[in-house]
Amino acid sequence: MSEPQVVPSPAATAEMLASRIRSRTARVGIVGLGYVGLPLAVEFARAGFSVTGIDVSADKAKKVNSGDSYIGDIPTATLAPLVEAGKLRATTDFSAVLELDTINICVPTPLRKTKDPDMSFIVSSCQEIARHFHAGTLVILESTTYPGTTDELVLPMLSKGGLEAGKDFFLCFSPERVDPGNPKYQTSNIPKVVGGCTAACTEMGRLFYSQALEKVVPVSSTQVAEMVKLLENTFRMINIGLVNEIALMCDRMGINVWEVIDAAKTKPFGYQAFYPGPGLGGHCIPIDPFYLTWVARQYGLTTRFIELAGEVNTAMPAFVVSKLTDALNDNGKPVKGSKVLLLGMAYKKNVDDARESPGFEIMEMLLKKGARVEYNDPHIPTLPPMRHYPTLRMASRELTPEYLARCDAVVVVTDHAAFDWDFVLKHAALVVDTRNATHGAIGAARVVRA
Ligand SMILES: NC(=O)c1ccc[n+]([C@@H]2O[C@H](COP(=O)([O-])OP(=O)(O)OC[C@H]3O[C@@H](n4cnc5c(N)ncnc54)[C@H](O)[C@@H]3O)[C@@H](O)[C@H]2O)c1
Repeated sequence: MSEPQVVPSPAATAEMLASRIRSRTARVGIVGLGYVGLPLAVEFARAGFSVTGIDVSADKAKKVNSGDSYIGDIPTATLAPLVEAGKLRATTDFSAVLELDTINICVPTPLRKTKDPDMSFIVSSCQEIARHFHAGTLVILESTTYPGTTDELVLPMLSKGGLEAGKDFFLCFSPERVDPGNPKYQTSNIPKVVGGCTAACTEMGRLFYSQALEKVVPVSSTQVAEMVKLLENTFRMINIGLVNEIALMCDRMGINVWEVIDAAKTKPFGYQAFYPGPGLGGHCIPIDPFYLTWVARQYGLTTRFIELAGEVNTAMPAFVVSKLTDALNDNGKPVKGSKVLLLGMAYKKNVDDARESPGFEIMEMLLKKGARVEYNDPHIPTLPPMRHYPTLRMASRELTPEYLARCDAVVVVTDHAAFDWDFVLKHAALVVDTRNATHGAIGAARVVRA
């Protein structure tokens, strides 16, 4: 016969967990070891916690366990000593949850083809967590999602065994604000917003993050915390849409939009610079605002700003292709048969992440028009398999003077710091620059802004 279990009171449960967090003996779990999860795991391991990462990818777990980083912002030299010291390990086995005191969920939240939220990763990870869940655990969802997810979707899954949030366990939402490739702001010094299902949950979340991160900003509910992230990313998406519209207008009027922005941003208040480009990319800005659109629809509302900015932004790759086509025509070369090199396939400067990158759309449009398209990206040696472009597979070309001279046009899609713009302008005949990257560079190439 098994021993009768002594169930601690809610106050004792909270105090036990809080004391483990304060003494940094709490066993921390991070579910999803990607661009968000791995840096978070590293931060808590650095703060002295014993961290277990859980990921469905056996390859990622293996890499972590051999101290081998696959995330640009985490040098192997940072990861390896933490693994060697036994502070960080990874597994694909969710039974590790049995041993954990805290769990941060950092799994993907993409859109379905219909632009509806795809909750399948949150649901499947929570189902696995629920199978091994126990009282006295703090769970924090970090995946970007629509307001209501934590309370309406995650909470019922974790309470199924009769446990109550705020008493037997603690549940929060905390938006992740990591900015890959940003040397100034990283996980540890970006203020962390956290909102719980109850005040006790918020307090436990605040206590947890304050052990490893510089600043924690508690808010009154999970819904507020969820909405914070969507406001931030929607603000960015809409302002990029606005500046792209201004860029199209400036192009028609023969005004240099980059000079306009540089002058406008000298205003010390009331203006924040956003820059035009070949279209939105990445896992956040093109996707997150549509979570808001989806949830607005449930309340009978429409999000007109989002739809409008989405229209302007998604038209940018076609604008780049039309500028390139005109420039090639001016040189007496039809786009069909022309050799075009795309510089930069990552969605933004100095990162190796190609998700949703506009480079793929530009490449596909040009291939459809019969151009011979290749690319160079020092951060992406071969194109990863892309959801929407499964047939686009190729390797980055080496940038030699002879190779550049053989190209009919070079399109600057991403302005990585590794590119030598003088070198490009010296050897290429025609450069279509979507990022103002060649401004100030010296060379004989004809440069067209797009
Ligand atoms: N990348 C960013 O810059 C960024 C910034 C802020 C917020 N976010 C948000 O954070 C979340 C994670 O994004 P990311 O960029 O880290 O994604 P990612 O694809 O880099 O990482 C997600 C990880 O989760 C793993 N995974 C998938 N399903 C799983 C499951 N059921 N159980 C355990 N692991 C699972 C994947 O194998 C992968 O390693 C998303 O909601 C995203 O919108 C991302």
